[in-house]
Order: sequence, then C-alpha cells, then structure tokens
Amino acid sequence: MTIGICSDHAGFDYKSRLVKYLKGKGHKVVDFGTDSVQSCDYPDFAHRLARAVEGSEVEAGIAICGTGNGMAITLNHHQGVRAGLAWNCEVGSLVKRHNDANVLVLPARFISYRMAVAIVRTWLQTSFEGGRHLRRIQKINQL
Ligand code: RB5
Repeated sequence: MTIGICSDHAGFDYKSRLVKYLKGKGHKVVDFGTDSVQSCDYPDFAHRLARAVEGSEVEAGIAICGTGNGMAITLNHHQGVRAGLAWNCEVGSLVKRHNDANVLVLPARFISYRMAVAIVRTWLQTSFEGGRHLRRIQKINQL
C-alpha cells in the first residue's frame, strides 16, 4: 500500500519509527512531516496528509500527535477523510470495521510504541464490514 504519515513534535519519534516499520513491511510511505521534535502546529501537517488522502495520492493515512485529538479534529474537516482515534487494538479494529477510517490517529503520549505498532498492524489487516455501517458513513457528509 501507499501510506501517508504525519505528526507534530509530540508524535515525531513514533512517526520516525513507524516509517521504518512500514517500509520494512513493503509499504510505500509518504512522510508529510514534521521533521524534528521542535515545537510545531499539528494542523500544518494534518492538512497536508488530508489533501493527499482526498486526492488519492495515498491509499491510507496515519497521523500522530500527543492526544490524537488535534490531528483528528483537523483531518475530519476534510470531506474525503474519515480519521479515527485508536488507543488499543480493539478500537483500531472497530475504527476500520465500523467507521471505515481512511486515516488512523494515534495518541503518542498515552500509548507505548509497542501498542502503536500493534494498532497499526491491526488496522491495516482489518476490512470495513459494510452493511448498516455503510449507511451510517454515507450519512456523515449529509450536512
Ligand atoms: C502538543 O503539545 C499537543 O497539544 C498536541 O500534540 C496534541 O495533543 C494536540 O491535540
């Protein structure tokens, strides 16, 4: 898969390690920053990733900040993005099975790196269930 990834300073360490992990698994990874632990603003990177998802430049995205909330709030302003926050493997599975999240959001300050990898692996291996969940996600953009 081609996977886009971004973080702010709080997620930079996990992002760097996940880029290596994903490349090691044979994925093409497009890194939208940030590029250091220097304090920065998460929307700058979330918008870049979201535009790449909406434009089908990447097939899926991963976004990481301290709580995950700043990334999720920003990403979900984009019509073509369903960004879901996950803090364990069960939620990582459900966010794909029920919400068809095309961006996985991780809260780096509240989960271990080991957990982050386990959630990413679960989310990538899980499929959307469709059915009643398709009806629900179709209603999301019906403002
Ligand atoms: C950065 O300190 C922190 O606010 C950010 O990573 C994130 O948690 C925001 O939602």
